[in-house]
Amino acid sequence: MRFAVIGCGVIGRAHADSITSLAPHAEFVLAVDPIPDRARELAARYDAQATTSTADALDRADIDAVAICTPSGQHVGLAVAALEAGKHVMVEKPLDVQVDAALRVAEAERRTGRTVSVISQHRFDRASQFVRQAVQDGKLGRITSGSAGIAWWRSQGYYDSGDWRGTWLLDGGGSLMNQGIHTIDLLVWMLGEPVEVFAWTGCLAHQGIEVEDTAVATIRFASGALGVIHGTTAAYPGLTTRLQVHGDRGSAVIDNDRLEYFHAAGAESPEAAAYGAGRESNQAGLVLPDAAPDPAAGGAPAALPNAHTLQYRDFLDAVIHGRPPLVNVAEATATLAVVCAVYESARTGRPAPIRLRTPNDADSGTPA
Ligand SMILES: NC(=O)c1ccc[n+]([C@@H]2O[C@H](COP(=O)([O-])OP(=O)(O)OC[C@H]3O[C@@H](n4cnc5c(N)ncnc54)[C@H](O)[C@@H]3O)[C@@H](O)[C@H]2O)c1
Repeated sequence: MRFAVIGCGVIGRAHADSITSLAPHAEFVLAVDPIPDRARELAARYDAQATTSTADALDRADIDAVAICTPSGQHVGLAVAALEAGKHVMVEKPLDVQVDAALRVAEAERRTGRTVSVISQHRFDRASQFVRQAVQDGKLGRITSGSAGIAWWRSQGYYDSGDWRGTWLLDGGGSLMNQGIHTIDLLVWMLGEPVEVFAWTGCLAHQGIEVEDTAVATIRFASGALGVIHGTTAAYPGLTTRLQVHGDRGSAVIDNDRLEYFHAAGAESPEAAAYGAGRESNQAGLVLPDAAPDPAAGGAPAALPNAHTLQYRDFLDAVIHGRPPLVNVAEATATLAVVCAVYESARTGRPAPIRLRTPNDADSGTPA
């Protein structure tokens, strides 16, 4: 599959790297950025071509797929244009900054028969995969509650580093829309369809940004399970991301992509025992060795392409076999809807329902 990378900034480079690492199944052929030097510099590194024109890229018949790595508020416009040009689409998180806009991608995907996946690379961490499987297999029993915690630090310099950062129009939000969305996506993946949110937000440690740097929320799921979200870029010097999933037969804790605790009651099977199940104590069950550190949380930058590469591998396989990718549009829309509901609730001071449909699009956006 021959790719154009649209947007050659921080994450565009990681995409180019992941695509190239999957040769001969994937090839990075074209770098697209309105800043000519950025496109040229990325292209030169991989012996690819460069252009400043997205339209030129979409017109080319030798390009099968695009990776959209632009500021978040531009994702849907580019994704729909790419689908209509017959390309498959890998789009960075968040799918967009508005749920209604995101629903247009689902419609265009259906209409064109192309495949879209939305980056949520931490779903591919071994710890996330293990806990999700345990939830699916009922090993934690009935899921009763969960929490997503993101206690990070972003300097003022980070927000000043790009005009689009910290704006409603292009970033779509702050500590939740940009950073916390990864862990919120994992929470929704584990706990199921989200229904309603109540939230508070604040901008407490940064200047000159329109959006929150701190958010707290409670969330209710269709199953009856309850959750808590805490996401901040104002926790100096920056701590971990933490996901907790609790059921009436077991619990799991993932801290910075590692399985810190796992317990499943009555787990007689050797597999469950190996994961620390059946213990009376509150000790950590297992630390999986290959969990990739998140560079945004201070880990090694080299780890980022690995996580993205796993998602690219799933994407290629999905296209080849005509199956949905692991992170599909409906699920990404549900996660986006949670973040948008947090902002709505914080603005109105009232609980906000999760909006996954528009009146004209009754079938769209239902999480799988
Ligand atoms: N998955 C992750 O871990 C992760 C990490 C960082 C960023 N992201 C996401 O990636 C996206 C980009 O973030 P970034 O940090 O790379 O930003 P960035 O500012 O470093 O890069 C964005 C690039 O897009 C270019 N651009 C702007 N408009 C364009 C257009 N219409 N067509 C083509 N290029 C255009 C800019 O010139 C810039 O080079 C955001 O949506 C962000 O949320 C995801």
